[in-house]
Amino acid sequence: MVKSRPRIVAFLCNWCSYAGADLAGTTRIKHRAEVRVVRVPCSGRIDPTFILKAYERGADAVIIGGCHPGDCHYVSGNLHARRRFYVLRELLGFLGIEQERFQVTWCSAAEGEKWARTVDEVCDTIERLGPLESFKSMTDYLRIPEKEISLSDE
Ligand code: FES
Repeated sequence: MVKSRPRIVAFLCNWCSYAGADLAGTTRIKHRAEVRVVRVPCSGRIDPTFILKAYERGADAVIIGGCHPGDCHYVSGNLHARRRFYVLRELLGFLGIEQERFQVTWCSAAEGEKWARTVDEVCDTIERLGPLESFKSMTDYLRIPEKEISLSDE
């Protein structure tokens, strides 16, 4: 049987974490390649629905990367994000998603090593846990077929 590779989505703030991931690439720091990066202006911009959508669309894990507390380019975006993700992490269990599938890291533009280590650790965790199936099957079950959503009076 062919072992499936982890599918990881990372939402990274433009100013720190994305630059840190870029640094890892430009300085040729090796890390696992199973991560797909979505660049956002600030971790404060990441709506929890983005994360749930990523799981629904097949992600086995989600990584959030932002500036270190106190270094946010929009002053307090990462502080708001931290509170939001703390609550979200608690709710994931109700959705059948292990908390280990959700990782938040504060990573500066100079921390390419840290970014690479985070990716490798999350990949290892997902290989241990296996693919995320329960959430996808639950959303498939709850999904309302398009034809049943009609706002017209017909
Ligand atoms: Fe990076 Fe706000 S700008 S977390």
